[in-house]
Formats: sequence, C-alpha cells, structure tokens
Amino acid sequence: MEIKILENKTAVAQSFSAYFAELVQSQDKLYVALSGGSTPKTVFDYLASEYANKIDWNKVFFFWGDERCVPPTDSESNYKMTVDHLLSKISIPEANVFRVLGENDPEEEALRYAELLENTLPLEKGIPQFDLVILGMGDDGHTASIFPNSIYLWDSSINCKVAIHPDSGQKRVTITGRVINQAKHVVFLVTGASKKEKVREVIRREGEYNSYPASMVNPSSDSLVWYLDQEAAQEIK
Ligand code: 6PG
Repeated sequence: MEIKILENKTAVAQSFSAYFAELVQSQDKLYVALSGGSTPKTVFDYLASEYANKIDWNKVFFFWGDERCVPPTDSESNYKMTVDHLLSKISIPEANVFRVLGENDPEEEALRYAELLENTLPLEKGIPQFDLVILGMGDDGHTASIFPNSIYLWDSSINCKVAIHPDSGQKRVTITGRVINQAKHVVFLVTGASKKEKVREVIRREGEYNSYPASMVNPSSDSLVWYLDQEAAQEIK
C-alpha cells in the first residue's frame, strides 16, 4: 500500500490527475470505475480544466463503482455529477460511458450491470477486471456503497448488489469486493478532517477496522494507493 499525503484537496486532485494522465498514456484502453462523493468532484473539475486536451479520452472507458437509485437528472445521481463536472467538458465518445441506470428497478439493474461488466471488461479468473477503481471512504468507513451494517455484501459471489444507505434508506447499486480486489489498480481519494479517525483505523488496522468495508480493500495486484489531504491524514502522521 502506498500513502500520499498532500497539502489540501486541490493538491490531491492535482496529484491524482497527473497519475491518471500517465496511466491513460501507458495503455491502449483504460477501464475505470468512478465513485461519487465530494473528493472525486474536485478531481473531475481539475481534470476538466487542466487535462481536457491533454488526455486521449477515446482510450478511456468509464463505469461506476456505485450509483444512487435515482434518475440521471437527479442532483443525487453520481452520473449527473460526473457529467456536470467532467463529461460535458471533455470530448469522450458516448459509447465509452457505461452508466448505472439508476431510474430502473434496483435489483434488475444490479443484475444487468453485473452482466454488462462481465461482457465488456476483460475477465481475470472469471471476474471482470478494471484497470482502475476509484474509491472514496465515508465517515463511517463505507466504500463504494457497501456500508458497515451490510458488510456481508463485500463477499458476494455476484459482481453487483443492491445496497441501502443506513440513514436515508436510499437504494444504491454497488460493485462488490470481488470486482474491487480484482482491479489492476485501486485508489482511495479521501479528504477532510471528518475522515481522520477512520483513515487511521483502516490504514493502521486499529480499533474496529474489521467492521469497516474500506478495510476489505486489498487488491490481489497489490496496487493500492491512498490520496489523502493533511486533514484526513492528521492521525497517521
Ligand atoms: C457515493 C459514494 C461513496 C463516497 C463516500 C465518500 O456515491 O456516495 O461513491 O462511497 O465515495 O461516501 O464521499 P465524500 O468524498 O463525499 O466524503
């Protein structure tokens, strides 16, 4: 595991974007799972403003690691957030963007998306393999949309499951542990002081770390990088 501690959110966006641009350059095609949340939003803004013309977006294929079960026009939609902050500002073919259909029946959509991953991504040991999975971590230690109270979803034998947000009850479609841990590269983007405790527990394997889905991230490729700002990293320095 590699841990990068950057000055602030903008520096996280800067550092991750440089890594992302290099990764695109090094491959013919790049299959990427995106996440929602506030840190990716800053990263998308940075990529849109600094890398719109520096990355060959034809080579990039975007999927979502999780999506809220709402229409694509809803302000809660991770797809909408990505369109607003990145996709509408770069030239990427529509055929390279594989959104979760949040407006559909969640169970049916989880099945459809699981199959779509299987039919679109290269398979490694029978499991769809992303080149890069981008994750956030919630204050409660959740990642993608696998929450502590449904941590069993992590070990599902299926690529995608329906999850329920423990506070709002909102349904989500999320990829499961087998897909995350099969990726060639996994990156956590975590910023802000509200994350400091869980960051320490998960990274140092302290306290209740076993009950946090973020602790289960352990790609068999061994390529796991945490991008943190000073605030999120304050208890591990
Ligand atoms: C989502 C997520 C989720 C997110 C974390 C961190 O759709 O809500 O993908 O897992 O990444 O909750 O979110 P913040 O960066 O906003 O804290």
